[in-house]
Amino acid sequence: MKIKKAVIPAAGLGTRVLPASKSVPKEMLNIVDKPAIQYIVEEAAAAGIEDILIITNRGKGVIEDHFDHSYELEDQLSKNPSKKDIYDVVKETADIANVFFIRQKETKGLGHAILKAKPFIGDEPFAILYGDDVIMNYDGYPVTKQLVDTYDKYGKGVVGVKEVPRKDVSKYCSLDVTDLEGNLMNVHNIIEKPTEEQIMSCYSILGRVVVPADVFDYLEEDLANTPEGTELYFTDTLTRLSKEKGLIAQDFDGIRYDMGNKLGIMKANCEVALRHPELGEDFKAYLKDLAKDL
Ligand code: UTP
Repeated sequence: MKIKKAVIPAAGLGTRVLPASKSVPKEMLNIVDKPAIQYIVEEAAAAGIEDILIITNRGKGVIEDHFDHSYELEDQLSKNPSKKDIYDVVKETADIANVFFIRQKETKGLGHAILKAKPFIGDEPFAILYGDDVIMNYDGYPVTKQLVDTYDKYGKGVVGVKEVPRKDVSKYCSLDVTDLEGNLMNVHNIIEKPTEEQIMSCYSILGRVVVPADVFDYLEEDLANTPEGTELYFTDTLTRLSKEKGLIAQDFDGIRYDMGNKLGIMKANCEVALRHPELGEDFKAYLKDLAKDL
């Protein structure tokens, strides 16, 4: 079944990158010449996704503006032949995909944010791209497409995973997995933010997931059982999915930049700048020069 819809949760508070994210959502933080979330929308579109729902909240209206036409700006640029290239770039930003928005209203966790997408998704399998995880595949095979292809082959949910350093597993989640084929594994259990004793492997879910619409039933039940004042973890829902319908972990081919983390933001800017067609050479020379004094 062709996967045509995706959800990008972008309603978190972004406390780890304050004060940068105080009035600018972390998903709008810049990577060289585009906000982070544009790379994510482009990745979804390159995977064949046509309709994208971005989950926002108060103060994130700039995300909506970014994917809308800016008629005054486009009009001004269109009148100046020397600005033709930038006119095309600005205009295309509004046409990358069909982008829709809904507000989460209360920040009750990733699972709660994803549940907001139920009416938009309906009964189809869909992709989830976390709004603060920019994942680059520099060979032209977007990570969402890698997961979609696996979903098509096996008909089971797929989570994008990477091995993280053991000391960091407690910040993410830990997966119990057995080999399936190539970079694919069967998932048997997932523990969110494990203690040292609970670590089953260093594989953690990083930013990309393709799941059947069954997850909404699980999320509704889990939400009803979530005590007031606590977050609804999406990981718990994925654990249920793994046990009841099966779930595949894919050690994806790509580099993930955590835009909810200061070092992640710096790494993204550095690596994208080094590969940038206009800036790459100059930036490399600048870094080499700078490194002499370090
Ligand atoms: P994070 O856990 O990194 O989000 O969620 P956060 O709450 O913004 O981070 P910190 O810890 O305060 O810095 C991963 C993704 O899920 C979204 C976030 O926007 C991010 O893209 N999210 C998280 C929601 O949409 N709603 C939520 O209630 C929580």
